[in-house]
Amino acid sequence: MATATNYIGQPTSRVDGTAKVTGAAKYAAEYNVPDLTYGYVVSSEIAKGKITKLDTREALAIPGVLQIFTHENRPNLAWFDSSYKDDIAPPGSPFRPLYDAEVKYSGQPIALVVAEEFEVARYAASLVRVEYAPKPHETDLNEKREEAYEPPKKRSGIPPPAKPRGDAERAFDNAAVQHEAEYRHAIEHHNPMEMHASTVVWEGNGKITVYDKTQGAQNSQGYVAGIFGFKQDDVRVISSYIGGAFGSGLRPQYQLFLAVLAARELKRSVRVTLTRQQMFTFGYRPDTIQRLALGATADGTLEAFMHDALANTSQFEDFQEDDVNWSGLLYKCANTKFTYKLAQLDLYTPIDMRAPGGATGMYAIEAAMDELAYKTGVDPIELRLKNYSEKDQNKDKPYSSKELRECYRQAAEKFGWSKRTSEPRSMRDGKELVGWGMATGIWEAFQQKASAKATLGLDGKLEVGSATTDIGTGTYTIMTQIAAETLGIPIDDVTFKLGDSTLPTSPVEGGSWTASSIGSAVKVVCDAVGEKLFKIAQEMDGYSFADVDYKDVAFSQGKLRLKRDASHAVPIVDVMRYGKINAIEEEATSSPNYLKQNGYSSYAHSAVFVEVKVDEELGMIRVTRAVNAVAGGRILNPKTARSQVLGGVVWGISMALHEETYTDHNLGRFMNHNLAEYHVPVNADIHDIEVIFVEEHDEIVNPIGAKGLGEIGIVGTAAAVANAVYHATGKRVRDLPITIDKLL
Ligand code: MOS
Repeated sequence: MATATNYIGQPTSRVDGTAKVTGAAKYAAEYNVPDLTYGYVVSSEIAKGKITKLDTREALAIPGVLQIFTHENRPNLAWFDSSYKDDIAPPGSPFRPLYDAEVKYSGQPIALVVAEEFEVARYAASLVRVEYAPKPHETDLNEKREEAYEPPKKRSGIPPPAKPRGDAERAFDNAAVQHEAEYRHAIEHHNPMEMHASTVVWEGNGKITVYDKTQGAQNSQGYVAGIFGFKQDDVRVISSYIGGAFGSGLRPQYQLFLAVLAARELKRSVRVTLTRQQMFTFGYRPDTIQRLALGATADGTLEAFMHDALANTSQFEDFQEDDVNWSGLLYKCANTKFTYKLAQLDLYTPIDMRAPGGATGMYAIEAAMDELAYKTGVDPIELRLKNYSEKDQNKDKPYSSKELRECYRQAAEKFGWSKRTSEPRSMRDGKELVGWGMATGIWEAFQQKASAKATLGLDGKLEVGSATTDIGTGTYTIMTQIAAETLGIPIDDVTFKLGDSTLPTSPVEGGSWTASSIGSAVKVVCDAVGEKLFKIAQEMDGYSFADVDYKDVAFSQGKLRLKRDASHAVPIVDVMRYGKINAIEEEATSSPNYLKQNGYSSYAHSAVFVEVKVDEELGMIRVTRAVNAVAGGRILNPKTARSQVLGGVVWGISMALHEETYTDHNLGRFMNHNLAEYHVPVNADIHDIEVIFVEEHDEIVNPIGAKGLGEIGIVGTAAAVANAVYHATGKRVRDLPITIDKLL
């Protein structure tokens, strides 16, 4: 029954849209407070070595400069004590700026200049004289292949390679058709529009308020409290709006540390904003070399699947991704072997970037499957269906739902795949070669423990809150929809609050788990309010709620109703008046139901089809069409959901054709650290993208049945583009991005 308060599944426009387009939405660097001071970071110019001299005299002499913090004068903090245990997400030991004179990577923050004006701080920073004793560095993964190691400690949440099955080497050797190749992609840096920034407000009473660009206000809060010795409640972190993050804000970043350090020492409010160039100094998608070896029968039945990944990390952390486990989820194969190794380079530690491991691993897997399709002469979709996996072979578990077959079918039909001629270089459009390629996408459907609170007032207005973040994905909107529908309250009367560490506990926004995790908490807390209303209504004369259970009633259009007779209804405000209450306030937590979920594997799936047109003479590639069919469980909001998948596809195209951080290995430095030289796609690069949501019902995955869509759109897309380029040109480029020089 459709009612005016049926919101879940509706294409609701962003509830924060007006605030964003009018400029009312404030970002971390936009909070102006009285007597604000400004910090500017000085970055190291060498990749490795020691600072032998740090002369700040000239800089300090500039009027308006308040202080310059370096390793020589920084305060002693718990953090600098070797026994200090970091307790942050994602787990690890983040680099400690200003610890000592050692330089461990190019761009390392080595000083913070604080001044009364931003321009003064920036100018003074240019006057800080630094001398170094450089040491030899290594930033080239190729040079470290021999020193690769299996990461000793499993970074929590990152599964190790699945155990081998059968005898993969032998099965490969005996296979009628073999494909073995090495795939690689460039280092990519997150380039959200909003650069990382923290505004620390010195409250003067031992407390600070921090406006921070982060994917987890409470993560930043815990980090600041821990290392600076604040009481948890004395640090409030606010991150109401985030201008994109893509994983770069999962960890508290160094501008937060430096801003709090300066504020605490100067007892003043301090803002530190990173420059676009400094956005290239803390984490990236790691350089990864992947070897795939696939053995199959002549008709394309997989007999051996081997996947070895080697990725770079820093000298001080073992950053890990799940690159190699995806084939065990997608394809049936009795003989498998997976390895995952790291090599330490003199670069900063990588950090999660949209679908970490998935975008990487599935690029190589799906490009290799395409090569196998040509070698066996089996159509790429047919090959995938032939080897379709009905269960998660890595864990030997069934799927809670898997509508991947429908993804292939619907996307192929929409795309017009049946009109494809399989021979490379066989399709043309005038002067251009036409290529059609496809690939599969997969991403885990996580749920994390999360809490929310709800307050329903006598005016019929509902406020719900949780300390989660909206990095631009639509969290504000979908949470408002869930709350409005659960309690049958007009959406305009519902406000959702987030991005404030004082709100109920929430994990960092990441892993595509926010819709499922915080969504479930919102549902549970609204039901708690609903049950309270119901209990009161049961005592009201003239209504027959006394004889039924909570599951027999529903809320819509501001009324509590009997499900079997919706006309039997009482206004919510009447119930509250009868109970003589002015407000109902509840707080609740939703945790994964392991009892229910543990028997299953839960993943979102997709099939992505791409058309490229290649100018044969110039080697220029255009992605003219893309169709991505996604099975992601329940779609809470088709409008914001589509935007998530669109964004993912755009980035997949970008990964295939544009993005590449160049490292000058002589200098050990990223050279194209600006938006002029680091290529991201612009409107002219992006053409027709169609998103299909395949119907998928999943009662097991979590209470709201949504699998999350933030990451699935990128997974597989780069492979689909690379496969289409091969189909168009007959040339297989295995290291991304596929630039003109590699193609010609
Ligand atoms: Mo995402 S890379 O987990 O922010």
